[in-house]
Amino acid sequence: MFFVLEGIDGSGKTTQADRLAEMLARRLGPDNLIRTREPGGWEGSAAAREFVLGGGLASLWGEFFFFMLDRCEHVERVIKPALSQGKTVLSDRYAPSTLAYQIFSDTSIDSAAAEYAARLGEVIGLPTPDAVFFLDVDPGTAASRLASRGVTDSFDGRGREFCESVRTGYEKTKAAWSGRWVDIDASRDEEAVARDIEAEVSSMLTAAQR
Ligand code: TYD
Repeated sequence: MFFVLEGIDGSGKTTQADRLAEMLARRLGPDNLIRTREPGGWEGSAAAREFVLGGGLASLWGEFFFFMLDRCEHVERVIKPALSQGKTVLSDRYAPSTLAYQIFSDTSIDSAAAEYAARLGEVIGLPTPDAVFFLDVDPGTAASRLASRGVTDSFDGRGREFCESVRTGYEKTKAAWSGRWVDIDASRDEEAVARDIEAEVSSMLTAAQR
């Protein structure tokens, strides 16, 4: 199965990915789980990740295609081989991030262009996750979490307004993923959030094993 965690910066996504990875490894066996992330989930991509997160690109479409390129390599080298061997993949970010951050957060992108961007992954055959867990947190809370942990990349440093536009971007992105999108209230404590995600994943695994 293929699971994805999504959320605005400061939503607690990486902490939850760690916890979910532990739960999956326990349940499926560590060799049956591939824990990965975007951007930069494939061998040789560290420099690319550093470049894009360092603010190396000026154009939104440049960023869009850069993240798409990263995803195509990630899919080809990591995700597809794992899925075809029957392994479970857990990715910290995937296609919804590109739509939320590069496309739907920006009101200057017109609807035809946004539609093109939203369809591209499917048209070129990128695998569709079984579930996208969206860690939903108020942008104000996320921005103060980010401020207290310090800026780690140029995306983190864009502030509350940017968090708000990405949160709106996710709302629009969600429409294209109906049936596979699971909203998780991530304003609660870590335990409560983890319990909800684990309950969903557990029932999906049980259903798949039937
Ligand atoms: P990430 O490593 O998940 O950072 P964090 O742990 O702070 O959430 O992602 C780095 C940044 O890259 C994050 O701000 C979101 C951004 N990003 C995009 O803008 N588009 C994309 O397609 C992806 C995958 C990430």
